Amino acid sequence: MNDPEPFKIKMIEPLDRLSKEDRTRKIEEAGYNVFKLRSEDVFIDLLTDSGTSAMSDRQVSQMIRTEQAYAGSDSYYKLKKTVKEIFGFDRFVIVHQGRGAENVLFSVLIEDGDYVPNNMHFDTTRANVKHKGGEPVNLAVEEAYEPEKKADFKGNLDVEKLEKFIEEKGVENIPLVMLTITNNTAGAQPVSMNNIKEVSKLAREYDIPFFLDGCRFAENAHFIQLREKGYKDKSIREITKEMFSYADGFTFSAKKDGLVNIGGILGVRDEDLHRKCKNLSIIIEGFPTYGGLACRELAAIAEGLKEVTDESYQTYRRQQVKYLADLLLEDDIPIVEPPGGHAVFVDAKRFLPDIPPTKFPAQALTTELYKESGVRGVELGTSAFGDTDEEGNIIPADVENMRLAIPRRVYTLNQLEYVADSISALYEKKDKISGLERTYAPDLLGHFTAEFEPVE
Ligand SMILES: Cc1ncc(COP(=O)(O)O)c(C=O)c1O
Repeated sequence: MNDPEPFKIKMIEPLDRLSKEDRTRKIEEAGYNVFKLRSEDVFIDLLTDSGTSAMSDRQVSQMIRTEQAYAGSDSYYKLKKTVKEIFGFDRFVIVHQGRGAENVLFSVLIEDGDYVPNNMHFDTTRANVKHKGGEPVNLAVEEAYEPEKKADFKGNLDVEKLEKFIEEKGVENIPLVMLTITNNTAGAQPVSMNNIKEVSKLAREYDIPFFLDGCRFAENAHFIQLREKGYKDKSIREITKEMFSYADGFTFSAKKDGLVNIGGILGVRDEDLHRKCKNLSIIIEGFPTYGGLACRELAAIAEGLKEVTDESYQTYRRQQVKYLADLLLEDDIPIVEPPGGHAVFVDAKRFLPDIPPTKFPAQALTTELYKESGVRGVELGTSAFGDTDEEGNIIPADVENMRLAIPRRVYTLNQLEYVADSISALYEKKDKISGLERTYAPDLLGHFTAEFEPVE
């Protein structure tokens, strides 16, 4: 039996469900891109777990009590204390969200032609590296690409591959090494402490700064606690402190494991690098004690970081994701296994084996699911991570998934049952689903604004 939710509901947001005819019209008007739907036209929204958490009464009360000041608000000092307690970092820069941290850090570190290795870059990280003239390189372990394989730490980076890569490209062309915890692109898969330690050790041997992309650090810490030898008696906070102790810095979107709707942090150990990042962020984000946010958001992040590292919260969170995954597995729906931290990933390659990646099977699945049920997932496949060659031919991505990201503390198990039933019903008539032709996409982060038409 699952543990009951460690909270009760104090306020609700009513939901309406459109008819199937209306949804069919809405998705057509949206160019078969769920990012272009109005959220009021969505029944259950699993587009993302980013910025969609329900806040606690403690967070909201801290927000109200905050001083709103351009410089030196009390919420900055609260956050500073919490950042030290949770991550063990004295120096950090506040930013409006995760990509703000990436922008600041990469602007300072990356030069044209540089390489940035990572287990797997997520979309904004990849785009921000490219935007600065760099080349994002994924060096995940092989099993990250094997959706059916059950392994404890499929999010890991292949350390041998990394060493070979550094030798081949030269230290001078690699301004930083990153590790994304959890590995979102591979299916929200955790990274082991041992892997974090080994990557850090290697980066240090070559004198390359090592950064964590820590968006879902607490979920990662909880998996280490459950699965890695030697950690079962350690608290999530102790594990978190250890994970970050191996890093020279980190990027963090507080919209995930900060349990807030907006905000981010760039943590940096080196004084000189911190100065450079801080000075740039004053130009593009905001003064250091608010960093592009209202001061109240800082207070909410400080409280959120405490709540997200609570043991009972993480147990509930993991069980909720697993609940949806188990319902889908019962009906033989192909998903990435084992289920990860914040989402269930439906493997569109196996769900729709007759649609080639150049016809965007995961995008087709995502739009059909919306049409059938009002549930909004998101494509993480060739639209999000593919490329095009010089002639404009589509180069498929390594992964082809529909992600069902579960907002934190938002949906009930009944609602997740509705999601699972809707996907099972769709699976019954999967032969009727056709692929999509992409009619428009900009170069970077094209999936957000891309347009499609059904293949006849
Ligand atoms: C692993 C990872 N890194 C970075 C980001 C970027 O964060 P943000 O959306 O706050 O810019 C995301 C967002 O989903 C993410 O999942």
